[in-house]
Amino acid sequence: MALGLGDCVDLGALCEHIGDCHRCGLGSTRTRVVFGSGDPRADLMFVGEAPGRNEDLEGAPFVGAAGHFLDELLASIGLERGQVYIANVVKCRPPGNRDPLPDEIATCTPFLRRQIELISPRVIATLGRFAAHWLLDTTAPISSLRGRLYHVGTTRVVPVFHPAAALYDASKRQVLFDDFKRLRIVADERDGSDGAVASRSPDAQATPEAEDARQAPDGETVPAQGGQGALF
Ligand code: URA
Repeated sequence: MALGLGDCVDLGALCEHIGDCHRCGLGSTRTRVVFGSGDPRADLMFVGEAPGRNEDLEGAPFVGAAGHFLDELLASIGLERGQVYIANVVKCRPPGNRDPLPDEIATCTPFLRRQIELISPRVIATLGRFAAHWLLDTTAPISSLRGRLYHVGTTRVVPVFHPAAALYDASKRQVLFDDFKRLRIVADERDGSDGAVASRSPDAQATPEAEDARQAPDGETVPAQGGQGALF
C-alpha cells in the first residue's frame, strides 16, 4: 500500500518517501535531492529557492557562496546552522540555476509543506522571492515584502532578500544584516504562552503585522522607527 505524506511522521520518513524523486523533470538533470538540514525541532527555519551546483553535488542546502554568506548572517545574530533548519522551495537543482518552473514548484512544495508541519517552527525566514511568494501566496516584489512581519496561521514569517542577491548587489548586504537583527528579535519573542506553537498551516491567509512599516518618501518600505512593539 502506498503511503501518503500524512503517514510520514518524521523527517526521516519524509526523506525516504521522497526517495530518488523523478516526479518532475528536475529528477533527470539533478545529481542529488537536497532534502534540507539542521535541527528537526528548530524554532527558526529558513526556506531558500532551489539547490545550486554545490548543493546538487553535496546533497545539502546552502553550501556554496550564498551559503557562506548565510553562515555569516547567522553568526552576526549569534546562531549557527545546527540551531536552525534550512530547506528550499524545490529540492532539486534547476539546470543552469534557472528559476524553478511553476509545475516544479507545485510538484515539490507538498514535501516542503509536510517538512514545515513536522518541524513546526515558530518563525520562518524566507530567503528571496520564491519562498516568500509561495509561503505568503503573493507575487509582490521582495523589496516590498522584506522589512515586514507576516503571520501565516500561528507562524511568523520574515521575508528577507536572498543571500545570493548581496553577492551581486553590495547595497543589499547591509540590508540583510539589518533584517537578520530584526529576525533575531522576532525569533526571541514568545507568544505569551509557553512559546510553543501547536500547529501551523502554511496555506493560511498571510497577514502583515498592522503597524509594521512606514513608507519612505520614495515609496520604499523601510523599518518602522521605535514605537512599542514596532520591530519592523
Ligand atoms: N540558493 C538557494 O536558494 N538554495 C540553496 O540551497 C543554495 C543556493
